[in-house]
Amino acid sequence: MAKSKTIYFCRNCGHQSGKWIGKCPACGEWNTFEEEVISKPSAKDAGNIDKIITIPVAVQDVTSDTEKRIDTKSIELNRVLGGGLVKGSVVLFGGEPGIGKSTLLLQVALNIVGKKILYISGEESHQQIKMRADRIGINNDQCYLLNETFTDNIFNHAKEVTPDIIVIDSIQTLYTDLIDSSPGSISQIRETASQLQRYAKSTNIPVLLIGHITKDGQLAGPKVLEHMVDTVLQFEGDRHYGFRILRSVKNRFGSTSELGIYEMQSNGLREVTNPSEILLSQRDEIASGVAIAAMVEGQRPLLIETQALIGTAAYGTPQRSSTGFDLRRLNMMLAVIEKRSGFKLSTKDVFLNIAGGLKVDDPAIDIAVVAAIISSLEDVAIPANICFAGEIGLSGEIRAVSHVENRISEAEKLGFEKIVLSKYSLKNINLKRFTIEVIPVSKIMDVVDLLL
Ligand code: TYD
Ligand code: MG
Repeated sequence: MAKSKTIYFCRNCGHQSGKWIGKCPACGEWNTFEEEVISKPSAKDAGNIDKIITIPVAVQDVTSDTEKRIDTKSIELNRVLGGGLVKGSVVLFGGEPGIGKSTLLLQVALNIVGKKILYISGEESHQQIKMRADRIGINNDQCYLLNETFTDNIFNHAKEVTPDIIVIDSIQTLYTDLIDSSPGSISQIRETASQLQRYAKSTNIPVLLIGHITKDGQLAGPKVLEHMVDTVLQFEGDRHYGFRILRSVKNRFGSTSELGIYEMQSNGLREVTNPSEILLSQRDEIASGVAIAAMVEGQRPLLIETQALIGTAAYGTPQRSSTGFDLRRLNMMLAVIEKRSGFKLSTKDVFLNIAGGLKVDDPAIDIAVVAAIISSLEDVAIPANICFAGEIGLSGEIRAVSHVENRISEAEKLGFEKIVLSKYSLKNINLKRFTIEVIPVSKIMDVVDLLL
């Protein structure tokens, strides 16, 4: 017979304690402990997947089977996963409600041919899923739907269906009777996720898991959930824009800097294989305050429009607002411009926007930000055929960036005639390969001189 008791769990790291404590001794967070009633399973209740016997194997005897990755038939998803779905892996898809997680995974499930897929939903009925599938408009007779939230039943059904891939929408709806607390609680998420992880590893069937996100953008549930799974992907985007970005946050089988871009349409998600074209807004006349940055996300070059608007502050304290770019970094850029090139910005309102609802981390956007600010301040438009890539340091120096050749060739491909780069980036680069004109700069004043 199982014995039940009350345990307190840390929401952040999953640390458990017999009594409530204010500060977690494991991760140091305050006020993260939550009460949960759990019943400890007796040894004979524990699920049969626990009883797999493993033996030590010499590393050279392990056969690395080359057909380990499953092609998801989605160029974007394959890239983010690092070249396809690894057999026996658990992939967690996080994202805000309504961003399109269920749509993405149903579409993937319907798109894959020649593989049997079990799509398990605890959130929507068969009819609702069918309506969505009709909207996406793909037929696949190898995709099975299941409404189930009890993990033991899921494993039993999986035994009958023998799927090649399992999709679960969502981890927060699953529960196991080994634990007495309600679905979505920390201990349930932890236990069901570890059951799924053991299941995937022992059967070699990959599991795609959907996970909800809390208000502050964290995956709901304990942090240990992220440690348990092999890959964590974040599906993000501004709901008011059509674009969605699938970003890899953790990946045991690939790079974490990869990025996939989708567009939500009335019939599902469309893969955006040439993002630069849509990120550069179509404009007929060139306005001041717009500069194009030659960025790289992961291995992927992207040309992005940076827009700045500078106005005289109507109130005492000037406003500084930034969308898609770190506000602290914007403030730093403003200080560098003021100190190193003499423009007065302390009495100006500054608004900065990255077009397309994108969030940018690549420091190479710095020169484009500075160019857009100076262009707006002086009301001088930047010619449409020029783009920028370089990081700016505190002393106003323009620092080298990575993937320079990628940036140059993408700019050239999109018809730009000039690219402004740090002169330090150009060592060991054979510029004869390119027809685009490369303008080397080494300090912020060089950019100012170029613009004015
Ligand atoms: P959904 O996939 O349910 O989001 P999540 O599972 O992340 O909560 O749906 C996201 C939104 O996408 C929903 O508001 C409806 C919209 N949508 C489209 O615009 N086009 C489509 O083809 C589909 C299926 C949904
Ligand atoms: Mg959903």
